[in-house]
Formats: sequence, structure tokens, C-alpha cells
Amino acid sequence: MSRNKIDGGTGLICLLGNPVTKSFSPQIQNIISSVMNVNLIYLNFEIEHNQLSKAIEGLRALKVKGFNVTIPYKEKIIELLDEISPEAKEIGAVNTVKMEDGKLIGYNTDWLGYYEAKLTCTGKGFEGDSVLILGAGGAAKAIAICCLKNNCANIMIYNRTIEKAEELVNNLMKNYSGRVNFCSIDILNHVISHSTLIINTTSAGNYSNVNLMPIGEEVPFKKGQIFSEIIYNPSETKLMKLAQSKGAFCFNGFEMLLQQAIKSWEIWCNKKIELDKIEEIRSLIKETWTF
Ligand code: ATR
Repeated sequence: MSRNKIDGGTGLICLLGNPVTKSFSPQIQNIISSVMNVNLIYLNFEIEHNQLSKAIEGLRALKVKGFNVTIPYKEKIIELLDEISPEAKEIGAVNTVKMEDGKLIGYNTDWLGYYEAKLTCTGKGFEGDSVLILGAGGAAKAIAICCLKNNCANIMIYNRTIEKAEELVNNLMKNYSGRVNFCSIDILNHVISHSTLIINTTSAGNYSNVNLMPIGEEVPFKKGQIFSEIIYNPSETKLMKLAQSKGAFCFNGFEMLLQQAIKSWEIWCNKKIELDKIEEIRSLIKETWTF
């Protein structure tokens, strides 16, 4: 791998969010560009809450190749773009923007990232899966749409704040009526035992509070089930350890993080990253991974 060299022809890609200092995107994207031998540099920009439209104006003037958007701007960015993809529109959030002929086009690669992660880690898609999603935020919505678009049998949504789960279910029902339902606490264990795929999309158990779990400890995980996290730090959450101890096959959020980054890069550079390159990128990232 030749290291990124900055010269007169180096293009800029960046991340807009607040905060951004803990983001791994620069680490991942700069490795991707190096491996692909493309002259790009990726930097993080922390944007103040009243400065988003100014930042976008600036990026237009600088003719950047594109950028990522993260919390808290994934929804707010939409009104500042010229076009958005049908999937980003359906999810209601944009995490990737490409400059094309002076126009800013928004995409969502989170749902694609989850699809590729599931396929890479388990060897299969979502066909026929009975899915339980824990959480009802932006990540839950992108992942639910990913499962539904890829022919899962049905989805149940459980969330600490009931109203938010109900709102997400009602929203998804517009396009996927009959396959989405709300899961209340009293039927949670029954739903867990009948699910083939259980996904934690909440932040409970991440590095800021490793002892938290989004549900209680008495959960009937079992062999034959798949449990997945979108958390990658720590590499095993308390809930993931519990699922593992009961025989469920588990994977964490690392692969989703990597795959959504790959999809963003492919959009910016209009180039497919082949499997052997993905493997090289994955191992280089893991070498620099400290957890
Ligand atoms: P994101 O866009 O990353 O999904 P979000 O929209 O803030 O982030 O959603 C975070 C999700 O994690 C929510 O479903 C939240 O539950 P509430 O709606 O009840 O707030 C869930 N969550 C966060 N911390 C949690 C905890 N300690 N226990 C259970 N759920 C938690």
C-alpha cells in the first residue's frame, strides 16, 4: 500500500458532524484511498449548530468531491441538498453526499452497510428472517428498511420509550404494511425466542457505559439465532456476551462501519472495490484498531 501523499492534485472528502473527534471515518477512508491508490484526503469538521448551511456553501465553493454527514445533521442536511436518492428519502436521513456537476446529491449507505455486514458475517441475506430490532432511532429505521427491502418475513420493534417505537412502526407500515409490528415489554421474551435475527441498534452497552443493556438479563437467546450489534467499541457488549453464552451466533458493528464506508467511497469515486481489496482494507484497519 502506498501511503496517501498530499500534492497539488489531492482531492478533499470530509465528515460534518458535532462532535466528530471520536469518529473512525478518517482512519477508514484514508486507508481505503491508499489501498485504491486514489489521491484523496479525508478530514473531520466539527460544525456548530447554526453553521451547517454556511459549511455547505463553503464546500460547494471548494468543489469538494463529497462528504459524510453524522449526528446531529443526518436529517437536517436534506433541505440543503439539490437531490437525494430514493433510499435516503425513504429512510429520511443522508450520511453521504456527492458533488456531481456542481450539484449536491445525498445518499444513505448505512442500510447498505448493514446488508453487506450481515452477508459477510453470516453468509446469508434476510430472506425469511423473523427480526427483532431493539431501539427506534435513526439506525433502527435504516436497518429495518434494509431487512424489509431484502425480504425478511417480519419485523418487531422494541424500544425503551414506547411512543418512539410506535411512531417508527406507523412510519414503516406506510410501505411495508403487514410485516412490521410493535413489541411491548410483556411479549419481549416470547418475541426473542421466536426471532431468527435480533439486532441491537441502541447505544446501551457502548464504550461510555459498558455495563448497560437495552433489555433485562433473563433473555431466552438460543442456538440457531443470530444476534448483531451496531456497537463496535467494545468489540463485545454485555448483551452480545449473554447471547453468545446461550449459543446465538453474534457479530458486532465493525463490519457495518467498514461496509458503509466502502459504499460511500464507491459513490464518491464511481468505482467498485473488489473483495480482495476489501480484505486488505479490513486487515489494515484492524491493525490500527485499539479495542
Ligand atoms: P441513532 O440515530 O444512532 O439510532 P438515536 O436516534 O438517538 O440514535 O436513537 C438511540 C436509540 O437508543 C433510541 O431507541 C434510544 O431509546 P429511547 O428512544 O428510549 O431514548 C435507545 N437507547 C439509548 N440508550 C439506551 C438505554 N440505556 N437503554 C435502552 N435504550 C437506549
